[in-house]
Amino acid sequence: MPKAKKVLFRRSAFLVSYWNDAELIFENYATGKGAIAAPIAAELLSFFSRWRPTEALFRHLPQYSPSSLRAAIRELVRHSLLQRSDRKRHPLEQAMPAWKDWNPAAGFFHFTGRDLPFEADLLRMGRYMEGLTHEKAMPVPVKHYARAAQTLLPPPREEGEFSRVLTSRRTWRRFADGKLKLADLATLLGLTWGVRAWVAVPPLGRFAVKTSPSGGALHPIEAYLVARDVEGISPGIYHYDASRHRLELLRRGMTRDRMSDYVIGQRWFSEAAAFVFMTAEFTRTQWKYRYPRAYRVVLTEAGHLCQTFCLVATWLGLAPFCTMAMADSKIDRDLGIDGVREGVLYVAGVGKRPAGVDWKTASLPIDPTGKKRRLRG
Ligand SMILES: Cc1cc2nc3c(=O)[nH]c(=O)nc-3n(C[C@H](O)[C@H](O)[C@H](O)COP(=O)(O)O)c2cc1C
Repeated sequence: MPKAKKVLFRRSAFLVSYWNDAELIFENYATGKGAIAAPIAAELLSFFSRWRPTEALFRHLPQYSPSSLRAAIRELVRHSLLQRSDRKRHPLEQAMPAWKDWNPAAGFFHFTGRDLPFEADLLRMGRYMEGLTHEKAMPVPVKHYARAAQTLLPPPREEGEFSRVLTSRRTWRRFADGKLKLADLATLLGLTWGVRAWVAVPPLGRFAVKTSPSGGALHPIEAYLVARDVEGISPGIYHYDASRHRLELLRRGMTRDRMSDYVIGQRWFSEAAAFVFMTAEFTRTQWKYRYPRAYRVVLTEAGHLCQTFCLVATWLGLAPFCTMAMADSKIDRDLGIDGVREGVLYVAGVGKRPAGVDWKTASLPIDPTGKKRRLRG
Protein backbone atom coordinates (compact mmCIF):
# COMPACT_ATOMS: atom_id res chain seq x y z
CA MET A 1 0.00 0.00 0.00
CA PRO A 2 1.48 3.41 -0.93
CA LYS A 3 2.35 5.54 2.06
CA ALA A 4 -0.09 8.47 2.56
CA LYS A 5 1.60 11.80 1.87
CA LYS A 6 2.28 13.78 5.03
CA VAL A 7 0.11 16.88 5.41
CA LEU A 8 2.15 20.05 5.76
CA PHE A 9 1.04 23.51 6.87
CA ARG A 10 2.11 27.00 5.85
CA ARG A 11 1.04 30.49 6.79
CA SER A 12 -0.99 32.31 4.15
CA ALA A 13 1.03 35.11 2.56
CA PHE A 14 -1.91 37.53 2.85
CA LEU A 15 -2.32 38.06 6.57
CA VAL A 16 -2.73 41.32 8.39
CA SER A 17 -2.81 41.50 12.17
CA TYR A 18 -3.91 44.40 14.35
CA TRP A 19 -5.46 45.23 17.70
CA ASN A 20 -9.04 46.34 17.99
CA ASP A 21 -9.02 47.66 21.54
CA ALA A 22 -7.90 44.64 23.58
CA GLU A 23 -8.63 42.08 20.83
CA LEU A 24 -5.86 40.83 18.61
CA ILE A 25 -7.22 40.16 15.13
CA PHE A 26 -5.73 38.18 12.27
CA GLU A 27 -7.26 38.58 8.82
CA ASN A 28 -6.58 36.91 5.53
CA TYR A 29 -7.45 39.69 3.11
CA ALA A 30 -7.46 37.36 0.11
CA THR A 31 -10.06 34.97 1.47
CA GLY A 32 -11.90 37.61 3.50
CA LYS A 33 -11.73 35.40 6.60
CA GLY A 34 -10.20 36.15 9.96
CA ALA A 35 -10.39 35.60 13.68
CA ILE A 36 -9.73 37.08 17.08
CA ALA A 37 -6.85 35.12 18.60
CA ALA A 38 -4.47 35.01 21.54
CA PRO A 39 -0.92 36.36 20.97
CA ILE A 40 0.38 32.75 20.85
CA ALA A 41 -1.30 32.51 17.42
CA ALA A 42 1.39 34.91 16.14
CA GLU A 43 4.07 32.46 17.35
CA LEU A 44 2.36 29.57 15.55
CA LEU A 45 1.88 31.55 12.35
CA SER A 46 5.45 32.73 12.45
CA PHE A 47 6.63 29.11 12.85
CA PHE A 48 4.75 28.08 9.72
CA SER A 49 6.59 30.55 7.46
CA ARG A 50 7.34 27.55 5.23
CA TRP A 51 5.67 24.17 4.72
CA ARG A 52 6.06 22.16 7.94
CA PRO A 53 4.41 19.14 9.56
CA THR A 54 2.48 19.24 12.84
CA GLU A 55 5.21 17.27 14.61
CA ALA A 56 7.73 20.04 13.98
CA LEU A 57 5.48 22.38 15.96
CA PHE A 58 5.26 19.85 18.82
CA ARG A 59 9.06 19.93 19.05
CA HIS A 60 9.14 23.73 18.80
CA LEU A 61 6.59 24.27 21.58
CA PRO A 62 7.09 21.33 23.99
CA GLN A 63 5.37 23.24 26.81
CA TYR A 64 2.02 22.74 25.00
CA SER A 65 0.29 19.38 24.61
CA PRO A 66 0.14 17.96 21.06
CA SER A 67 -3.65 17.82 21.28
CA SER A 68 -3.93 21.56 22.11
CA LEU A 69 -1.51 22.42 19.29
CA ARG A 70 -3.46 20.22 16.88
CA ALA A 71 -6.66 22.04 17.87
CA ALA A 72 -4.95 25.42 17.37
CA ILE A 73 -3.75 24.38 13.89
CA ARG A 74 -7.27 23.23 13.01
CA GLU A 75 -8.66 26.63 14.00
CA LEU A 76 -5.99 28.52 12.06
CA VAL A 77 -6.78 26.41 8.98
CA ARG A 78 -10.53 26.95 9.46
CA HIS A 79 -10.02 30.71 9.37
CA SER A 80 -7.69 30.34 6.37
CA LEU A 81 -4.73 31.77 8.28
CA LEU A 82 -2.82 28.52 7.68
CA GLN A 83 -2.87 26.55 4.41
CA ARG A 84 -2.84 22.75 4.20
CA SER A 85 -0.69 21.07 1.56
CA ASP A 86 -3.50 18.63 0.65
CA ARG A 87 -6.11 21.33 -0.04
CA LYS A 88 -6.59 23.57 -3.04
CA ARG A 89 -5.76 27.18 -2.39
CA HIS A 90 -8.44 29.86 -2.55
CA PRO A 91 -8.56 31.28 -6.13
CA LEU A 92 -7.94 34.83 -4.91
CA GLU A 93 -4.83 33.66 -3.03
CA GLN A 94 -3.59 31.97 -6.17
CA ALA A 95 -4.02 35.10 -8.28
CA MET A 96 -2.68 37.48 -5.62
CA PRO A 97 0.99 37.60 -6.73
CA ALA A 98 -0.20 40.15 -9.33
CA TRP A 99 -0.67 42.59 -6.42
CA LYS A 100 2.74 42.00 -4.83
CA ASP A 101 3.84 45.64 -5.14
CA TRP A 102 0.54 46.96 -3.75
CA ASN A 103 0.14 44.59 -0.83
CA PRO A 104 -0.58 44.65 2.01
CA ALA A 105 -1.88 48.25 2.20
CA ALA A 106 -3.95 48.42 -1.00
CA GLY A 107 -4.82 44.71 -1.07
CA PHE A 108 -6.09 44.79 2.50
CA PHE A 109 -8.34 47.73 1.69
CA HIS A 110 -9.55 46.44 -1.66
CA PHE A 111 -10.20 42.79 -0.90
CA THR A 112 -11.69 43.15 2.58
CA GLY A 113 -14.22 45.57 1.07
CA ARG A 114 -15.63 43.04 -1.41
CA ASP A 115 -19.10 41.52 -1.11
CA LEU A 116 -20.18 43.57 1.87
CA PRO A 117 -23.83 43.29 2.90
CA PHE A 118 -26.02 46.25 1.94
CA GLU A 119 -29.30 47.43 3.47
CA ALA A 120 -31.67 47.70 0.51
CA ASP A 121 -34.74 48.08 2.75
CA LEU A 122 -35.28 51.83 2.74
CA LEU A 123 -37.41 51.90 5.85
CA ARG A 124 -34.74 50.14 7.86
CA MET A 125 -32.05 52.36 6.32
CA GLY A 126 -34.11 55.46 7.24
CA ARG A 127 -34.46 54.26 10.82
CA TYR A 128 -30.75 53.51 11.00
CA MET A 129 -29.87 57.02 9.79
CA GLU A 130 -32.31 58.60 12.19
CA GLY A 131 -30.62 56.66 14.97
CA LEU A 132 -27.30 58.13 13.88
CA THR A 133 -28.62 61.67 14.26
CA HIS A 134 -29.50 60.93 17.90
CA GLU A 135 -25.88 60.03 18.43
CA LYS A 136 -24.48 62.96 16.46
CA ALA A 137 -26.06 65.53 14.08
CA MET A 138 -25.56 64.84 10.39
CA PRO A 139 -22.44 66.69 9.17
CA VAL A 140 -23.03 69.66 6.87
CA PRO A 141 -21.57 69.13 3.39
CA VAL A 142 -19.85 72.56 3.19
CA LYS A 143 -17.21 74.44 5.14
CA HIS A 144 -16.79 78.17 5.97
CA TYR A 145 -13.90 80.17 7.38
CA ALA A 146 -16.10 82.81 9.01
CA ARG A 147 -13.21 84.90 10.31
CA ALA A 148 -11.18 84.89 7.11
CA ALA A 149 -11.20 87.89 4.72
CA GLN A 150 -13.97 87.22 2.20
CA THR A 151 -13.83 87.85 -1.57
CA LEU A 152 -17.21 87.91 -3.25
CA LEU A 153 -17.20 86.15 -6.60
CA PRO A 154 -19.29 86.85 -9.67
CA PRO A 155 -21.97 84.20 -10.22
CA PRO A 156 -20.84 81.18 -12.28
CA ARG A 157 -21.74 81.31 -15.98
CA GLU A 158 -24.79 79.20 -16.43
CA GLU A 159 -25.91 79.91 -19.96
CA GLY A 160 -25.40 77.37 -22.69
CA GLU A 161 -25.69 73.65 -23.15
CA PHE A 162 -22.62 72.69 -21.15
CA SER A 163 -23.74 74.19 -17.86
CA ARG A 164 -27.33 73.11 -18.49
CA VAL A 165 -26.16 69.50 -18.72
CA LEU A 166 -23.88 69.84 -15.69
CA THR A 167 -26.53 71.34 -13.48
CA SER A 168 -29.29 68.95 -14.56
CA ARG A 169 -27.38 65.73 -13.90
CA ARG A 170 -29.16 63.77 -11.18
CA THR A 171 -29.38 60.24 -9.86
CA TRP A 172 -32.55 58.64 -11.24
CA ARG A 173 -34.27 55.71 -9.58
CA ARG A 174 -37.38 55.45 -11.74
CA PHE A 175 -37.41 54.74 -15.42
CA ALA A 176 -39.90 54.58 -18.27
CA ASP A 177 -40.51 51.28 -19.99
CA GLY A 178 -39.25 50.97 -23.53
CA LYS A 179 -36.06 50.28 -25.34
CA LEU A 180 -33.00 52.45 -25.07
CA LYS A 181 -31.97 53.58 -28.56
CA LEU A 182 -28.88 51.85 -29.87
CA ALA A 183 -27.55 55.22 -31.10
CA ASP A 184 -27.81 56.62 -27.55
CA LEU A 185 -26.09 53.61 -26.06
CA ALA A 186 -23.32 53.87 -28.65
CA THR A 187 -22.88 57.57 -27.83
CA LEU A 188 -22.73 56.81 -24.12
CA LEU A 189 -20.11 54.12 -24.53
CA GLY A 190 -18.08 55.91 -27.18
CA LEU A 191 -17.91 59.31 -25.45
CA THR A 192 -17.20 57.80 -22.05
CA TRP A 193 -14.95 54.80 -22.63
CA GLY A 194 -14.04 54.92 -26.31
CA VAL A 195 -10.47 55.57 -27.44
CA ARG A 196 -10.49 58.99 -29.15
CA ALA A 197 -6.90 58.81 -30.41
CA TRP A 198 -3.63 56.95 -30.04
CA VAL A 199 -0.35 58.68 -29.26
CA ALA A 200 2.86 56.86 -30.15
CA VAL A 201 5.64 57.19 -27.58
CA PRO A 202 8.64 55.16 -28.71
CA PRO A 203 10.05 52.91 -27.41
CA LEU A 204 7.12 52.34 -25.01
CA GLY A 205 4.32 51.85 -27.49
CA ARG A 206 0.95 53.54 -28.02
CA PHE A 207 -1.02 55.43 -25.39
CA ALA A 208 -4.79 55.68 -25.64
CA VAL A 209 -6.50 59.06 -25.32
CA LYS A 210 -10.04 59.18 -23.92
CA THR A 211 -12.42 61.91 -22.75
CA SER A 212 -11.30 61.26 -19.15
CA PRO A 213 -7.75 61.62 -17.84
CA SER A 214 -5.83 58.57 -16.66
CA GLY A 215 -2.78 58.21 -14.36
CA GLY A 216 0.18 57.49 -16.63
CA ALA A 217 -2.32 57.32 -19.54
CA LEU A 218 -2.62 53.62 -18.75
CA HIS A 219 -6.45 53.54 -18.73
CA PRO A 220 -7.08 50.57 -16.41
CA ILE A 221 -10.89 50.80 -16.56
CA GLU A 222 -12.86 48.44 -18.82
CA ALA A 223 -16.60 48.70 -19.51
CA TYR A 224 -19.06 45.81 -19.73
CA LEU A 225 -22.61 46.42 -20.87
CA VAL A 226 -25.48 44.60 -19.16
CA ALA A 227 -28.24 45.03 -21.72
CA ARG A 228 -31.82 44.25 -20.73
CA ASP A 229 -33.85 46.54 -22.94
CA VAL A 230 -31.76 48.03 -25.72
CA GLU A 231 -32.89 48.40 -29.33
CA GLY A 232 -31.17 45.96 -31.66
CA ILE A 233 -29.26 44.13 -28.90
CA SER A 234 -30.29 40.82 -27.36
CA PRO A 235 -30.38 40.90 -23.57
CA GLY A 236 -27.03 39.79 -22.21
CA ILE A 237 -23.59 40.86 -21.06
CA TYR A 238 -21.19 42.42 -23.54
CA HIS A 239 -17.65 43.71 -23.34
CA TYR A 240 -17.17 47.14 -24.88
CA ASP A 241 -14.16 47.08 -27.18
CA ALA A 242 -12.93 50.62 -26.55
CA SER A 243 -10.57 50.80 -29.51
CA ARG A 244 -12.90 49.38 -32.16
CA HIS A 245 -16.15 50.75 -30.70
CA ARG A 246 -18.05 47.49 -30.75
CA LEU A 247 -19.71 45.08 -28.38
CA GLU A 248 -18.46 41.57 -27.76
CA LEU A 249 -21.15 39.19 -26.50
CA LEU A 250 -20.01 37.29 -23.39
CA ARG A 251 -23.25 35.91 -22.00
CA ARG A 252 -26.80 35.68 -23.32
CA GLY A 253 -29.92 36.61 -21.36
CA MET A 254 -30.72 39.16 -18.65
CA THR A 255 -33.59 39.61 -16.21
CA ARG A 256 -34.58 42.28 -13.73
CA ASP A 257 -34.02 39.76 -10.95
CA ARG A 258 -30.45 39.18 -12.04
CA MET A 259 -29.85 42.92 -12.31
CA SER A 260 -31.29 43.40 -8.85
CA ASP A 261 -28.92 40.71 -7.54
CA TYR A 262 -25.97 42.55 -9.10
CA VAL A 263 -26.85 45.68 -7.09
CA ILE A 264 -27.67 43.75 -3.89
CA GLY A 265 -31.42 44.04 -3.96
CA GLN A 266 -31.79 47.67 -5.05
CA ARG A 267 -34.79 46.78 -7.18
CA TRP A 268 -35.34 50.36 -8.28
CA PHE A 269 -32.17 50.17 -10.36
CA SER A 270 -33.14 46.86 -11.97
CA GLU A 271 -35.87 48.76 -13.86
CA ALA A 272 -33.15 50.50 -15.88
CA ALA A 273 -32.61 49.44 -19.47
CA ALA A 274 -28.90 48.82 -19.02
CA PHE A 275 -26.03 48.76 -16.57
CA VAL A 276 -22.38 49.29 -17.25
CA PHE A 277 -19.99 47.41 -15.00
CA MET A 278 -16.70 49.22 -14.68
CA THR A 279 -13.84 46.90 -13.91
CA ALA A 280 -10.19 47.73 -13.38
CA GLU A 281 -7.41 45.84 -15.11
CA PHE A 282 -5.17 46.59 -12.12
CA THR A 283 -2.15 45.11 -13.85
CA ARG A 284 -2.02 48.05 -16.30
CA THR A 285 -1.51 50.59 -13.52
CA GLN A 286 0.59 48.16 -11.46
CA TRP A 287 3.02 47.80 -14.35
CA LYS A 288 4.23 51.37 -13.89
CA TYR A 289 3.24 52.36 -10.36
CA ARG A 290 4.65 49.72 -8.07
CA TYR A 291 3.43 51.12 -4.77
CA PRO A 292 0.05 50.90 -3.03
CA ARG A 293 -0.86 54.58 -3.35
CA ALA A 294 -1.52 53.95 -7.05
CA TYR A 295 -4.67 52.07 -6.04
CA ARG A 296 -6.13 55.53 -5.36
CA VAL A 297 -5.39 56.45 -8.95
CA VAL A 298 -7.52 53.57 -10.23
CA LEU A 299 -10.47 54.43 -7.97
CA THR A 300 -10.31 58.07 -8.97
CA GLU A 301 -10.35 57.18 -12.64
CA ALA A 302 -13.52 55.14 -12.23
CA GLY A 303 -15.09 58.29 -10.72
CA HIS A 304 -14.08 60.43 -13.70
CA LEU A 305 -15.57 57.96 -16.13
CA CYS A 306 -18.79 57.55 -14.21
CA GLN A 307 -19.39 61.29 -14.07
CA THR A 308 -18.78 61.50 -17.80
CA PHE A 309 -21.28 58.70 -18.32
CA CYS A 310 -23.90 60.51 -16.19
CA LEU A 311 -23.32 63.78 -18.04
CA VAL A 312 -23.55 62.19 -21.48
CA ALA A 313 -26.76 60.42 -20.44
CA THR A 314 -28.18 63.72 -19.12
CA TRP A 315 -27.26 65.44 -22.38
CA LEU A 316 -29.12 62.68 -24.26
CA GLY A 317 -32.23 63.25 -22.09
CA LEU A 318 -31.80 59.89 -20.34
CA ALA A 319 -31.91 58.89 -16.68
CA PRO A 320 -28.49 57.81 -15.31
CA PHE A 321 -27.33 56.60 -11.91
CA CYS A 322 -24.33 55.05 -10.24
CA THR A 323 -23.93 52.69 -7.32
CA MET A 324 -21.16 51.03 -5.39
CA ALA A 325 -23.50 48.64 -3.61
CA MET A 326 -22.80 45.64 -5.78
CA ALA A 327 -22.22 41.90 -5.57
CA ASP A 328 -18.52 41.94 -6.45
CA SER A 329 -17.92 38.18 -6.64
CA LYS A 330 -21.11 37.45 -8.59
CA ILE A 331 -20.31 40.17 -11.12
CA ASP A 332 -16.69 39.04 -11.51
CA ARG A 333 -17.89 35.47 -11.99
CA ASP A 334 -20.43 36.44 -14.65
CA LEU A 335 -17.82 38.51 -16.45
CA GLY A 336 -15.36 35.62 -16.30
CA ILE A 337 -12.66 37.71 -14.56
CA ASP A 338 -10.62 36.67 -11.54
CA GLY A 339 -11.26 39.69 -9.29
CA VAL A 340 -7.51 40.15 -8.76
CA ARG A 341 -5.86 40.95 -12.06
CA GLU A 342 -9.19 42.44 -13.11
CA GLY A 343 -12.14 43.13 -10.79
CA VAL A 344 -15.35 45.12 -10.77
CA LEU A 345 -15.21 48.57 -9.11
CA TYR A 346 -18.33 50.50 -9.95
CA VAL A 347 -21.77 50.14 -11.55
CA ALA A 348 -23.41 52.81 -13.69
CA GLY A 349 -26.82 52.47 -15.24
CA VAL A 350 -29.23 54.19 -17.54
CA GLY A 351 -32.86 54.09 -18.54
CA LYS A 352 -35.45 56.23 -20.22
CA ARG A 353 -36.84 59.13 -18.24
CA PRO A 354 -40.39 58.59 -17.01
CA ALA A 355 -42.75 61.01 -18.75
CA GLY A 356 -44.41 63.76 -16.72
CA VAL A 357 -42.39 62.99 -13.58
CA ASP A 358 -39.88 65.45 -12.29
CA TRP A 359 -36.52 64.34 -11.04
CA LYS A 360 -37.30 64.92 -7.35
CA THR A 361 -39.97 62.25 -7.31
CA ALA A 362 -38.16 60.06 -9.82
CA SER A 363 -35.06 60.05 -7.64
CA LEU A 364 -37.05 58.29 -4.94
CA PRO A 365 -37.23 54.53 -5.21
CA ILE A 366 -40.85 54.69 -4.02
CA ASP A 367 -43.67 56.25 -5.99
CA PRO A 368 -44.85 59.17 -3.81
CA THR A 369 -48.40 58.84 -5.20
CA GLY A 370 -48.55 55.59 -3.27
CA LYS A 371 -49.03 53.49 -6.40
CA LYS A 372 -47.34 50.16 -6.14
CA ARG A 373 -44.53 50.01 -8.65
CA ARG A 374 -44.37 47.18 -11.06
CA LEU A 375 -41.40 44.96 -10.40
CA ARG A 376 -41.10 42.04 -12.69
CA GLY A 377 -38.43 39.44 -13.04
C1 LIG B 1 -19.85 56.28 -5.27
C2 LIG B 1 -21.35 56.45 -5.22
C3 LIG B 1 -22.12 55.40 -4.78
C4 LIG B 1 -23.52 55.50 -4.76
N1 LIG B 1 -24.25 54.44 -4.37
C5 LIG B 1 -25.59 54.51 -4.40
C6 LIG B 1 -26.39 53.38 -4.05
O1 LIG B 1 -25.87 52.34 -3.69
N2 LIG B 1 -27.72 53.47 -4.14
C7 LIG B 1 -28.35 54.62 -4.53
O2 LIG B 1 -29.59 54.63 -4.60
N3 LIG B 1 -27.62 55.71 -4.88
C8 LIG B 1 -26.28 55.69 -4.82
N4 LIG B 1 -25.53 56.79 -5.17
C9 LIG B 1 -26.20 58.02 -5.58
C10 LIG B 1 -26.24 59.04 -4.46
O3 LIG B 1 -27.21 58.67 -3.51
C11 LIG B 1 -26.57 60.40 -5.08
O4 LIG B 1 -25.49 60.80 -5.89
C12 LIG B 1 -26.81 61.46 -4.01
O5 LIG B 1 -28.01 61.19 -3.32
C13 LIG B 1 -26.88 62.87 -4.60
O6 LIG B 1 -27.91 62.97 -5.56
P1 LIG B 1 -27.62 63.38 -7.07
O7 LIG B 1 -26.71 62.35 -7.68
O8 LIG B 1 -28.95 63.39 -7.76
O9 LIG B 1 -26.96 64.73 -7.08
C14 LIG B 1 -24.14 56.71 -5.18
C15 LIG B 1 -23.34 57.76 -5.61
C16 LIG B 1 -21.96 57.64 -5.64
C17 LIG B 1 -21.13 58.79 -6.12
